[in-house]
Amino acid sequence: MATDQRTATDPIPRFPDGFLWGVSTSAHQIEGAADQRGPSVWDTFTAEPGHVKDGSTAAVACDHFHRYRDDVALLAGLGVDAYRFSISWPRVDSPGGLDFYDRLVDELCAAGVRPVPTLFHWDLPAELDWLDRDTAARFAAYVSAVTERLGDRVTKWITLNEPAEHTLLGHALGVHAPGRQLLFDALPVAHHQLLAHGLAVQALRAGGASDIGIANSHGPTWPASRDSADVEAADFYDVLLNRLFADPLLLGEYPAGLGELMPGDVSADLKVISEPVDWYGVNYYAPTRVGAPEGAEIDFGGVRMPAELPFSVREIEGVPVTDFGWPVIPDGLTELLTGFRERYGEKLPPVVITENGCSYEGLDDQERIAYLDGHVRALHRAVEAGVDVRGYFVWSLLDNFEWAEGYARRFGLVHVDYETLARTPKASYGWYRAMVASQRA
Ligand code: BGC
Repeated sequence: MATDQRTATDPIPRFPDGFLWGVSTSAHQIEGAADQRGPSVWDTFTAEPGHVKDGSTAAVACDHFHRYRDDVALLAGLGVDAYRFSISWPRVDSPGGLDFYDRLVDELCAAGVRPVPTLFHWDLPAELDWLDRDTAARFAAYVSAVTERLGDRVTKWITLNEPAEHTLLGHALGVHAPGRQLLFDALPVAHHQLLAHGLAVQALRAGGASDIGIANSHGPTWPASRDSADVEAADFYDVLLNRLFADPLLLGEYPAGLGELMPGDVSADLKVISEPVDWYGVNYYAPTRVGAPEGAEIDFGGVRMPAELPFSVREIEGVPVTDFGWPVIPDGLTELLTGFRERYGEKLPPVVITENGCSYEGLDDQERIAYLDGHVRALHRAVEAGVDVRGYFVWSLLDNFEWAEGYARRFGLVHVDYETLARTPKASYGWYRAMVASQRA
């Protein structure tokens, strides 16, 4: 575990020239203005009681749709290079939907903040379904329409956000939209999202884009013990989280045994899926400790883990945890990136950390500062170890609608009062601003 002797009081070491400092958000979590777009699977899901813990919806969220100018001013005040947001597919499909993103991109450019849109962050139009292969082609058509409109000002693009969570939480376990509990029958959802990614890369290239990535979630998987049953279970989990969406992209193949379970002409699809990307986005929060199945359904941090799963997720003891209960282990980020570099070698393109952050209450959020400080240092250790890292985005600019948790979990550098929608920068906002400024001094 922690071997680095430097402390939080030492200055953060310098990152390579041109390193991109940013913050992230996503459309469904902040925009609101649900009356000005078609429904997504998340609207349908949240409308059913019991799915979102506090019974809330994202109909208003942070009302970013109407307050985006204030939010861009917050970004400019933070002094970040780039802003990662997502484009809502159901909004784009609604009359005038692209106008909003047109205005947002103009506002960002005028403020000197580089727009980095994600084209899909889980809010699938309600009439579509990732179990249908055709959804991948529909995605590519939507991506072409977006590129045509914004491609003159947007140069850096992200195709998908965390297809692993969307597959596993949304379609295998049912705790996220669309709420399916298909377990391993959810695998076509993974394949169709990967295909959508590859087709989107082609559509973006056809529109002239040359700076394309994906945001996949990854974290080290630690076996609960050295027993072979625990090691095997951890390997299995590692395949699901760390290889199912990386091997096809970077190696053009599925991990052993999985290709056979995918629908369609997999070898032809893999050629599309492995269209080269310009960089690889990693969302990192924490490692996971995994052991052999416990033979019964367990509840892990609110996620129902059915007894049929060939693994069980276990508590990591002896480390601080966030309000969400997630362990705080900055070294996990160094371990993850150096491990990726070992696994994929020259096939791993430059890496960008597209999300990293934590949930804590309060305006004087010293725990968030400690979390971010620790992770930025851990990232630098990966750079020193030879990993080509080009950027870091904090999740998130604003407190927002945290999916099945509703508004109970606060990840923002900026506090949002959900009664008045007032924004108040937290202590971590000042910390990040000073850190980014110090990198340029
Ligand atoms: C997602 C975000 C989410 C964050 C914190 C990531 O899995 O991309 O949408 O809010 O983690 O849970």
